[in-house]
Amino acid sequence: MKIQAIVGGQWGDEGKGKIVDLLSEGVSIVARYQGGANAGHTIYKNDVKIVLHQIPTGALRAECTCILGKGMVIDPIGILEEINLLKSLDVSVENRIFIDNYAHIVTPIHKLIDKINEEKSGNEIGTTCKGIGPTYTDKYQRIGIRAIDILSFDKLKKKIEKRFKKAISNNEINQSDIPQLKEEIEEFYNAANAIAIFIDDTFIMLQNNLTNKILIEGAQGTMLDIDHGTFPYVTSSNCSSGGISTGLGLPGNKLDSIIGIFKAYTTRVGGGPFPTELFDEDGKKMGEIGKEFGATTGRPRRCGWFDMVAAKYSMQINGLTGIALTKLDVLDSFKTIKVCTSYEINNKQTSHMSGTINCLEDIKPIYKTFPGWETPIVNATTFADLPKNAQNYIIYLSDLIGVPIEIISVGPKRNQIIINQ
Ligand code: GDP
Ligand code: IMO
Ligand code: MG
Repeated sequence: MKIQAIVGGQWGDEGKGKIVDLLSEGVSIVARYQGGANAGHTIYKNDVKIVLHQIPTGALRAECTCILGKGMVIDPIGILEEINLLKSLDVSVENRIFIDNYAHIVTPIHKLIDKINEEKSGNEIGTTCKGIGPTYTDKYQRIGIRAIDILSFDKLKKKIEKRFKKAISNNEINQSDIPQLKEEIEEFYNAANAIAIFIDDTFIMLQNNLTNKILIEGAQGTMLDIDHGTFPYVTSSNCSSGGISTGLGLPGNKLDSIIGIFKAYTTRVGGGPFPTELFDEDGKKMGEIGKEFGATTGRPRRCGWFDMVAAKYSMQINGLTGIALTKLDVLDSFKTIKVCTSYEINNKQTSHMSGTINCLEDIKPIYKTFPGWETPIVNATTFADLPKNAQNYIIYLSDLIGVPIEIISVGPKRNQIIINQ
């Protein structure tokens, strides 16, 4: 496949990092199109666990150029930390990481506003407090600061000062926060200067490489999409494949394949409805075995069974051509496994998400129960190696979603993978 996209099929943390790492072998460009440091993508390099937030996961492959598209919101302080992390791992960064001229910039002001808004709402959405919402708000208000502004320092300073004054006059920040914010803005200026060498026209790079292999890395997940997700409990960008057109300037008809990443169950971190959430021993067990703690915030992730209603919706929204099913090994010790096949609301059953997405709190999930395989699968390397009950579970999911499950992940490490084609 020449141009392949990877998108989160559920509520994020599906294991995109691991799958991008797998599929980025031999790829010229890995590009991200939306989101920012709210993402936490985990990969293993020689058994060392690495979490990247803004830089595409392809950075670990020396042959890959990494693009951070104009649809992203970039935090210079955070990017610099990631660049230093990569350098400390002997991963070269010069001439391989490019931030688009027109990507919007997250400043300490945006991060503070995010934190204050969260506190005021009693953490209702449970954002990552990385400044994502406030930065996208400024973009749509047409007052945002962009990467290209970093290239003329006086202009950048004027814009920051103007935004600072606005935050004070609009009571977006507290007077008591001002001294610390001023210090953070100094750190921001230093980081902005340091990352200036990475800012470039990525549109032209993509256009010039359309005949080479390109991998597009989504962040978050379809159910967190600002338009298609469980609004208002969503992030502030289009994480579904639609965001690729706007975030990279790469229209949908250029994509040869779109792979949706799904966990073999479901997790969600932060607030918002979660139809198949478990509050019992099974949910606790999934969280413990799956080590379900946020890669960005460390918060425990809520756990539940696989939601077929959400998965079908996700398949339609993204135009999925294939699926990577991850963390199947986490279900190894379950006696029975459930899949939510439809929702019940007002004594009626529905298997359509679009009509119920605004009242998910009121639905009752209807489950189909499968016998578990109750045996470890972490060493399986082919579909045939899997126990019959695991095979049946995969076939059922694939048949109902209507898209082939091309990749099955049976552990966090690079080699714990089954290519099922
Ligand atoms: P992302 O945000 O979609 O990249 O996912 P995260 O990195 O936030 O979370 C996925 C977690 O699951 C990470 O800790 C991965 O190392 C881990 N992981 C990925 N695939 C598997 C798998 O097949 N089995 C197990 N047990 N863990 C996995
Ligand atoms: P990856 O790429 C899971 C969630 C937050 C919160 C909501 C809004 O690792 O899959 P934001 O900070 O974006 O304004 O928060 O979205 N969220 C994620 N949940 N994985 C992510 O990214 C997420 N990024 C944001 O928890 O509920
Ligand atoms: Mg994550």
